[in-house]
Amino acid sequence: MHVCMAALALDVAALAKSVPGGRMLFSGLDLAVAAGEIVAIMGESGAGKSTLLNLVAGLDTADGGRVTVDGVALSGLDDDARTALRRDRIGFVFQAFHILPHLTLAQNIALPLVLGSDSADAIARAEAMLAAVGLAGRGADYPAQLSGGELQRIAIGRALVHRPALILADEPTGNLDAETAERILALLVEAVRSSGAGAVIVTHSDRAAAVADRVLVLGASGLGPR
Ligand SMILES: Nc1ncnc2c1ncn2[C@@H]1O[C@H](COP(=O)(O)OP(=O)(O)OP(=O)(O)O)[C@@H](O)[C@H]1O
Ligand SMILES: [Mg+2]
Repeated sequence: MHVCMAALALDVAALAKSVPGGRMLFSGLDLAVAAGEIVAIMGESGAGKSTLLNLVAGLDTADGGRVTVDGVALSGLDDDARTALRRDRIGFVFQAFHILPHLTLAQNIALPLVLGSDSADAIARAEAMLAAVGLAGRGADYPAQLSGGELQRIAIGRALVHRPALILADEPTGNLDAETAERILALLVEAVRSSGAGAVIVTHSDRAAAVADRVLVLGASGLGPR
């Protein structure tokens, strides 16, 4: 597997996707995200923003085009290699958190480490990440004891703990009140900046878009300026 020295965090070229009924969501979509860069993606509901993130993460299959994550082309990978790439190089913050209720907070954050090849000191690293997201000492607690904003901080910690090259966040503040959303966003941006990862943040919020280096709007012809 060839990996460039100065690889882009993400390089998408000529991506096309239609939905099962045949309607074309987008075609000719290009997107390059440098290491350390934050790109916000906006667009109408149903435009295909979540679909785009799923394609980038290798969770969905495109009709055409190329996706390269951290110098590795998805098209050259079998299912196992694609899963490993996602686990090791991508951090995904889902809109609905996807926090597992039967695991403690530390176990939830440690999940990418335990699933990957990097499990040494997983809980200790998870505890350090808990402190970084403002929940120091809460590692033995369970998700049911947390508020929505606190859960989203756990989701961000889990997306960052394995130091991914690319962070994908799908409306990370969508379910939160404005004040909490603001704090979560600042935390996410600070975490991305300090990790040096590239990030794609899907958002409907002008405040979220304002912290990005670039804001793009998804339409039928791909991504364009706002
Ligand atoms: N499995 C599927 N079968 C048929 N249509 C689908 C399927 N998955 C998604 N779609 C359609 O694809 C379109 C894009 O969906 P997607 O979730 O990517 O939009 P979005 O831009 O993320 O919207 P939102 O802002 O509401 O989250 C929608 O019209 C949706 O109905
Ligand atoms: Mg969506």
